[in-house]
Amino acid sequence: MSDYQHLLPAYRSHAALGDAERIAWIRADRWLETAQARAALARLEDLLSYPARDRMPCLLLYGDTGIGKTKIIRKFLRDHPACFDRGTGISSMPVVAMQMPAEPLERDVYGGLLTALGAPGPMTDSTYRLKEVCLSLLRSMGARMLIIDEIHALLVGSFRQQRIFLNVIRFLANDLRVPLICAGTEAARQALLTDPQLAERFEAFHLERWTDDFQVSQLLTSLGGILPLRRPSDLATTAVRRKVLALTDGMTSRIFRLMETVAVEAVRSGDECITIDSFDGDNLVLPLVSMTRHMEKGLRHRASR
Ligand SMILES: Nc1ncnc2c1ncn2[C@@H]1O[C@H](COP(=O)(O)OP(=O)(O)OP(=O)(O)O)[C@@H](O)[C@H]1O
Ligand SMILES: [Mg+2]
Repeated sequence: MSDYQHLLPAYRSHAALGDAERIAWIRADRWLETAQARAALARLEDLLSYPARDRMPCLLLYGDTGIGKTKIIRKFLRDHPACFDRGTGISSMPVVAMQMPAEPLERDVYGGLLTALGAPGPMTDSTYRLKEVCLSLLRSMGARMLIIDEIHALLVGSFRQQRIFLNVIRFLANDLRVPLICAGTEAARQALLTDPQLAERFEAFHLERWTDDFQVSQLLTSLGGILPLRRPSDLATTAVRRKVLALTDGMTSRIFRLMETVAVEAVRSGDECITIDSFDGDNLVLPLVSMTRHMEKGLRHRASR
């Protein structure tokens, strides 16, 4: 048996597993550190170590849907987990992250935070009381950063509701003297810009789509080194890179989904490697947009034969 030299050492043993196990492995959730994700994490790290002062800096992490915002936040949370000190009996949670409530309502922010703190309680108390409980818990648990994901959901509210909500989160961050991080789409950026005071406070970090460059090669090469296929794949060529970008419009979620599909197909077909031809199959699982284009191209190709 070959020892799968094309794979990174830690991943070689996976290639020897059976088909079903390898397919499950390919489809499992994973984290890959891309250059952009690394830069975003470094920025978050920097803000976490920011000393408490009256006016704390805030950050908006924005980019298209599926670009990887939530993945970055989850990774940051894993890097800074909550911990329980048995000696003192005190739990601490340096980074508190919540998802934007379905509606921009003040009460729901406190509800979301209490759930994030592991202390969901009855939501029958007055808004004022909920806020007090929330602030006191955040302080006693040593929260040093607040993150609100999916902030674009703010836009379902009326203009007035949006302004009230933005003030609520701003005052929360002010009271606690911690940096506030919001993540969302371009629409979120527009919403924040409507409040000059907030726009002034927020620094923006744009997560961009992948383009035809060195970073895409790096991503594909990293995938080639971990996907449990038994033969070396042809992922470093310009043709493959261009094909992947054309089929996915450079969207992170689509790239991962596409690579997962061709890798699974490589296992099922017995080809055991990914080549430029892997991307021409009729059964590629692509998002609707790129799928339409892919089929049109296929039809044109067949008509011209
Ligand atoms: N660094 C990464 N490592 C591995 N997979 C990733 C990474 N970034 C993104 N993905 C893939 O892309 C998918 C979408 O990522 P994510 O949920 O973070 O996007 P998002 O920007 O939060 O999108 P939305 O605005 O719709 O919430 C993930 O489920 C995962 O499959
Ligand atoms: Mg998300």
